Amino acid sequence: MNVTNANYISDEATPWRMAVMGGAYGNVPALKACVEDAIHHGCRTLAFIGDAIGCCGHGGEILELIRQHFSLWVAGNHEQQAAAGQARCACGYSSPEDERTACDAFAIAQRGITDDQRRWLATWPDQRVVPTPAGQILLCHGSPDRTNEFLYESEFSSARWLPMLKKREWVGFVCTHTGLPWMRRLGPNDFAMNCGVMGKPDHDGDTAVHYALLEAPSPGELRLSLRSVGYDHAAWAQELRSQGIPEIFVSPLETGVWTTGVASLPELERKVYSGRRCCETLILRNKNEVIKG
Ligand SMILES: [Fe+2]
Repeated sequence: MNVTNANYISDEATPWRMAVMGGAYGNVPALKACVEDAIHHGCRTLAFIGDAIGCCGHGGEILELIRQHFSLWVAGNHEQQAAAGQARCACGYSSPEDERTACDAFAIAQRGITDDQRRWLATWPDQRVVPTPAGQILLCHGSPDRTNEFLYESEFSSARWLPMLKKREWVGFVCTHTGLPWMRRLGPNDFAMNCGVMGKPDHDGDTAVHYALLEAPSPGELRLSLRSVGYDHAAWAQELRSQGIPEIFVSPLETGVWTTGVASLPELERKVYSGRRCCETLILRNKNEVIKG
């Protein structure tokens, strides 16, 4: 895997805050709302961890917004496939029907992407190691092992991932790809987190989209939270319909309930339920591994 290290810049006057976002799927107003929310919360670093383009079209426009607002990028399966000129999305759904529909979305996603943008996507690393005031974290798309692995909360195994974190001396990792946000403490100072996606709701009957906020209010302390962000989904849905985007991709933006990808979910995630952990904060204190900039 192609892994890149980022720089950590210390500024004693301002607490460290970083937003981690993924899965824009061409949803322009949702991305703008999430970026505004992150800036409002004092984030100086915005990281995008893959799947910029998707079923909403507007591929060229969304890539320019990401180039403009984000300083760290990680390739998702959509970036890897678009850069390679592939027609398939390589999402990796277990249901063939879900994979077929995702590839239909990928055909829409690739409209309007320039050769320059494809060359830029080819430079995105598969993963990034990012220093924070509480230790190093990994940013990846699907999982630390594979770009298109689906890490669901109900199937998550601390026994699988905690030894990997300890071996690499990372305090945690943030992924996306599934569309469903969650966070998990793996040990006193270790975590795993899925930041959710900006491009569609998380199958809970609510139209909000999601991203992760990581803060270090004091040296060695890391606070993790999942932000739930609203935007004018009704106007966007109407615009997509007028542009001929199929209803299967539009209606979830208005209902908050998925029309595709459901058959591939584990039983627990398949149910439409409210109350995903979007309002909780996970606090880690890692006093022994403070990085001084
Ligand atoms: Fe993905």
